Amino acid sequence: MAKWNVLVTRRIPEEGLELLAPHCALELNPQDRPMTRAELLASAADKDGVLCLLTDRIDAELLDTATKVKGFANYAVGFDNMDVPEATRRRIPLSNTPDVLTDATADMAWALLFAVARRVVESDAVMRSGTWQGWGPLQFIGGDITGATLGIVGAGRIGTAMAARSKGFGMRVLYTDARRNDALEHDTGARFVDFDELLRLSDYVSVHVPLLPETRHLFSYEAFGKMKKSAYLINTSRGPVLDEAALVVALKDGLLAGAGLDVYEREPAIAEGLAALPNAVLTPHTASATFASRRGMALKAATNLLAMLRGERAPDCLNPEVYG
Ligand code: DGY
Repeated sequence: MAKWNVLVTRRIPEEGLELLAPHCALELNPQDRPMTRAELLASAADKDGVLCLLTDRIDAELLDTATKVKGFANYAVGFDNMDVPEATRRRIPLSNTPDVLTDATADMAWALLFAVARRVVESDAVMRSGTWQGWGPLQFIGGDITGATLGIVGAGRIGTAMAARSKGFGMRVLYTDARRNDALEHDTGARFVDFDELLRLSDYVSVHVPLLPETRHLFSYEAFGKMKKSAYLINTSRGPVLDEAALVVALKDGLLAGAGLDVYEREPAIAEGLAALPNAVLTPHTASATFASRRGMALKAATNLLAMLRGERAPDCLNPEVYG
């Protein structure tokens, strides 16, 4: 018999729903789009638990409305959509989905790196247009990858996985982070540098920091100006870490050679002018979109939510202080 009323704010892989179903009366957003704010507030009001997405804002207003909720399980590793201090103050546990998307996200960062450096999307467009006249010595020349310098901004799980993959390409690795990462240094020979030095020396800069007040617009026009003109920027973290409008200008001004982006400052909108730039490769926030990764996220979010409903500590709890 169903014990708890649970809201799932958008359809997730079945494995997660199947885990919840025996224990919960599920209300599933019937639309394949994020719930509107009004829908979320109304639907959460009488629920015992919510499985939410990075597009759902979990803040004081929602917590004021959803007074019965015993916990919110985010279907994402990033949790900048959740007001953690506010939930903690109210002793409401929150969780995320670490680990299961680390490899998929690092793989996608590499896909973007290759695509932008080797001009895969531009080349593909020419082949489809029927205008290709045959091999030419100056066609689609791009950046060298093997032997180049990779700069990792944010050496957590995903940044570390990104760096590990560079071993196959004989790359020199630089990284910057609030903390030293001994395992990364040991495994890849990565050198810890400050942000400016990383920008100055890297041929590829890959961004893996969470969105925090101190990382918002970490990449400004000024920062782009510190990069090599031949360098490429890859972002699979969160859009607001880059000043996206400034990036468009920087790409036009030739401050850097190109950018591969999976995330945007005002999703689903993208900065004016970005789509017209041939040296930008753009994917729709799909870095974790592999079968295993999304299944893993669904199972993690459901497992976390069930633990919260039972009053147990969620395995991926973001604010364990609530159990103290
Ligand atoms: C996350 O998990 O934070 C990604 O952005 C989506 O999978």
